[in-house]
Amino acid sequence: MALLEVQDLHTYYGEAHVLQGVSLAVGEGEVVTLIGRNGAGKTTTLLSIMGVVRPRGGRVRFAGEDVAGLAPHEIARRGIAWVPEERRVLPNLTVLENLRLGLLGGARGNGDGGLDEVFEFFPRLRERIAQKGRLLSGGEQQMLAIARGLVARPRLMLVDEPTEGLAPLLVQSLTRILGEISRRGTTILLVEQTLEVALALSHRLYVMDQGRVRFEGTPEALRREPAIQQRFLGV
Ligand SMILES: Nc1ncnc2c1ncn2[C@@H]1O[C@H](COP(=O)(O)OP(=O)(O)O)[C@@H](O)[C@H]1O
Ligand SMILES: [Mg+2]
Repeated sequence: MALLEVQDLHTYYGEAHVLQGVSLAVGEGEVVTLIGRNGAGKTTTLLSIMGVVRPRGGRVRFAGEDVAGLAPHEIARRGIAWVPEERRVLPNLTVLENLRLGLLGGARGNGDGGLDEVFEFFPRLRERIAQKGRLLSGGEQQMLAIARGLVARPRLMLVDEPTEGLAPLLVQSLTRILGEISRRGTTILLVEQTLEVALALSHRLYVMDQGRVRFEGTPEALRREPAIQQRFLGV
C-alpha cells in the first residue's frame, strides 16, 4: 500500500473544472515529481491533498486513512508538510522564529527536537539563526521554507517548485539537499518545472497537462519519450 494515494480527484475554482480526475500514488521513501507547464494543475493537486482547496470528487488516502475533507491543520498533524510556491518566509521574524512556526502544525510535539537535524541539512541557516527573514537571499529563503516543513518531521513533504528563480549553483545544491532529505527517510512529492532536476531526483514522475495526468513512469521511461516531453513540457 502506498503512503499517499490520490484517486480521481476533481477540483474546481468556482465554475472552472481544474483537476479533471487526477490519480497518483507515492510510496514510502519515494521521491515522486509532478511536472508540466504553468497552469497544468500541479499546485492545485498539492492544495487539494493538503485540504486547502476542497475537491468536489475523488479520494485522498494517507497512511491508510481517508483525509479528503479534513482541515489543513488536521492533515498537517497526520504527518504531511507543505512547502508552498514562492516560499512565504515571514520577513519580520528571525530564522529561528520562522522555524518554530513549522513546529506548530507538525505531527510530533517534540519541542525543538527537529531543529538540530534541520541544521545538518542547512548549516547556513544555523549561521543566520538570528537574522530576519527579509535579509535572507532568495536561496536562503527557499532553504528556510523547506527547513520549516522539515522541523515537524513529516512523513511526507509536498514541495512546490523549490528551484524556481534560483541561480544554477543554488539549484544544484538544493537538488543535492532534497536527495539527502529523501535518503534520510522523508518521502517527497515534488513539483518541479526543470526537467533535469526532476529526472535527477525522482523515482517516478507524473506529467500533468490541463488538469490531467498524461504520463506516468520512471525517469528512464520519460527520457525515452521525446514526444511526451515536447508535447507537454515544451522541451
Ligand atoms: N485561486 C484560483 N482561482 C481561479 N483559478 C485558479 C486559481 N488558482 C489557479 N487557478 C487556475 O487553475 C489552473 C491550474 O493552476 P495551478 O494548479 O496553479 O497550475 P500549476 O501549478 O501547474 O502552474 C490554471 O488554469 C489557473 O489559472
Ligand atoms: Mg504551481
